[in-house]
Amino acid sequence: MATVHPSPADLAAAQLAGTPYGTLPPASPLANRKPISLPRLLEMHSRGEKITVMTAYDATFAAVADAAGVECILIGDSLGMVCQGLHSTVGVTLDDMRYHTQSVARGIHRAQGTAWVIADLPFGTYQESKEQALRSASVLTQAGAHMIKLEGGGWTTETVRFLVERGIPVCAHLGLTPQTVHALGGYRVQGKTDASAVLLKKQAHELQDAGASMLVLEMVPAELSRELTQELTHCPTIGIGAGNGTAGQVLVLHDLLGVNLGKMPKFVRNFMDDSHSIRGAMEAYVAAVKNGSFPVDATHAW
Ligand code: KIV
Repeated sequence: MATVHPSPADLAAAQLAGTPYGTLPPASPLANRKPISLPRLLEMHSRGEKITVMTAYDATFAAVADAAGVECILIGDSLGMVCQGLHSTVGVTLDDMRYHTQSVARGIHRAQGTAWVIADLPFGTYQESKEQALRSASVLTQAGAHMIKLEGGGWTTETVRFLVERGIPVCAHLGLTPQTVHALGGYRVQGKTDASAVLLKKQAHELQDAGASMLVLEMVPAELSRELTQELTHCPTIGIGAGNGTAGQVLVLHDLLGVNLGKMPKFVRNFMDDSHSIRGAMEAYVAAVKNGSFPVDATHAW
């Protein structure tokens, strides 16, 4: 039987009528925003504009976050906890990450969005060798990520250099690195002692020198991350539980929306408290990061 293709008029009518199960619009309200690129992020950093990052794991939330003005969408391996119900991020696989990265990238594309897409390399997919890291990063890049993120310092430096030299932008991640939660003995603030602060700074500089173009600092004392942010001139820091002095902020989607049955971590603010919609909460998050009212060192940091 011959396939019947819808006519342009049918397609236009379907678009006007919307689609069931959540509508991804043909054009994002931020269609005028130029696509976020590495040079644009570095330019924002150099003029002191804060960079907003939020996690998303599916097409619709990613498109709404983009429309709310979030610059970078992170497909974090936190999906293991918030989507899959795991106890930690350790059980997330590369196939899981590929699936969610494809979903997010598709959602942004269909909404004609402009956000920069970052995907986490999950546990066990980059520790073995630089070559293993390249293979894993290629899978996520081909799934739609613009940048990959990996955890740890020291031994990761040469891996970062290897990926960057091969054209893959890298976001590093220091401080609390959840993939090593068992070695760290829990979800604890890192860099509190003089020795650990010195080591963290050294590793951050090495990562910048190796070509990392973003650095997540998780649960790091505010003073330390503020100093580091000023020292790292070409690698913007993105804080989570790292105080107000970083170049940008990241929050996990579910935390930001207050979809959390347990005790909220200290560094989280529920942006639904003063918003009537999810998009409104995301817009409030963007505004609060940009105007410096979130996070507050005394409330959200150590
Ligand atoms: O997995 C994740 O969502 C993250 C952020 C918390 C930075 O790594």
